[in-house]
Amino acid sequence: MARETPEKQLFVCENCGYSSVKWLGRCPECGSWDSMLEKTILPKTPPKGQMACKTSSKEGEVPLPLSAISSKDRAIRIPVGIDEFDRVLGGGIVPGSLILIGGEPGIGKSTILLQALTILSERGLNVLYISGEESPAQIRLRAERLGAHQGSLLILCESNMELVLKAVLDTGPDILAVDSIQTLFDPQIGSLPGSMNQVRNVTSALMHMAKGLKIPIFIVGHVTKDGAIAGPRVLEHLVDTVLYFEGDRTHSFRILRTVKNRFGPTHEIGVFEMTDSGLSEVSNPSNIFLEQRGKASPGSVILPCIEGSRPILVEIQALVNQSYLAMPRRTTAGVDTNRLALLTAVAEKHLDITLYDKDIFINVVGGFRLSEPAADLPLICAILSSLIEKPLGTRIAVFGEVGLTGEVRPVGQMQLRLNEAARLGITRCILPEPGGQKLNVPANMDVINISSIQGIVNFMDL
Ligand code: TYD
Ligand code: MG
Repeated sequence: MARETPEKQLFVCENCGYSSVKWLGRCPECGSWDSMLEKTILPKTPPKGQMACKTSSKEGEVPLPLSAISSKDRAIRIPVGIDEFDRVLGGGIVPGSLILIGGEPGIGKSTILLQALTILSERGLNVLYISGEESPAQIRLRAERLGAHQGSLLILCESNMELVLKAVLDTGPDILAVDSIQTLFDPQIGSLPGSMNQVRNVTSALMHMAKGLKIPIFIVGHVTKDGAIAGPRVLEHLVDTVLYFEGDRTHSFRILRTVKNRFGPTHEIGVFEMTDSGLSEVSNPSNIFLEQRGKASPGSVILPCIEGSRPILVEIQALVNQSYLAMPRRTTAGVDTNRLALLTAVAEKHLDITLYDKDIFINVVGGFRLSEPAADLPLICAILSSLIEKPLGTRIAVFGEVGLTGEVRPVGQMQLRLNEAARLGITRCILPEPGGQKLNVPANMDVINISSIQGIVNFMDL
């Protein structure tokens, strides 16, 4: 029987999926060179995932008044039982949600997923783990290392989206995980696995599956440091929850951060430590980040920062040296370089110090990354302390936002920061005037409120 639409030969950009009937040296859509590959395009059939998983509920088929829509699903969450993992999910897994776990290769995405999935399968849930990266034997080896090989977790090593869909419909899992989205491909689409087009397509098929079958789906996605590779960054708006694994692979600490969550708070973090038998939870991160701190040394300052709903004490280190370069070095780990440039300018202007001929190196201990403005004042204190080679003391914590005119502004959650500092034996805190916030100063805590950065000069004997 003749086909309605015959096969076609097309040139398809492997980067963005743009197609053209003739070969082009440069893709007019995404601008990449030599990316057009010849492809045979099969006649179009509706994407199988969308057909198979068409939502059957009345809601969504016809417009309904908001008041008539049930919210009964809202309360149902499946807690995993790993507290740090549940925290970043907003209390547990929401059925029907699509959760992306992103991060650099080798950071621990497959490890945390396998740990969580085996716990869930041991609890009697039907869990299907699809891997396009490892063989069943490799997964078994990893599970043995994690001490989690006894469960009934179902493993499928497959990267063809059509076969994945078939397996899902055959096994009817309660929870599905795909590792990784870059390996999955839809044979109906001409581009290579991992290309923008493929990644977007398979994700939207998984989204339809999650909503249609009302099962939670985890997707693993690799990101490079700049997020450049086709993948998670372009998917953030498609999925319900985005978790990013951060941390320096040379450190054993890993931070799982909620970047987006349609069903819970964002900016929550879960702290883990990579051990020989997988990721173990760190429920008291302040202790860990301050653990290796010895005697007071110049350039070291403690900051009580807030991550999500949690206060964590971290150590900021600065090293200020005479520079012999035309352009002095400004190197940071864990702090934005532009923020450092701004703060050094403010310090030079308002503290009457010379930094333009100094190399400045900043490090946040333990591979932690700071994004809060509360880190401004401790950064300036650390730079100053290294410059004049005077330690600030081991029992002092500093926080506050600094403005361009040198004013020190209040930051959020000052009470929480003070309490956490006091809990860890800090006896003196340098902080902004509280503004509208009412502070209960913990016992044995000496609180110094300053309103401009000139205020720190008094404590550092400039
Ligand atoms: P993995 O989860 O495979 O990373 P990803 O999926 O993000 O690419 O983690 C791999 C790294 O973790 C690897 O360097 C080995 C290390 N690791 C341990 O240190 N202990 C363990 O128990 C496991 C399973 C991995
Ligand atoms: Mg992996």
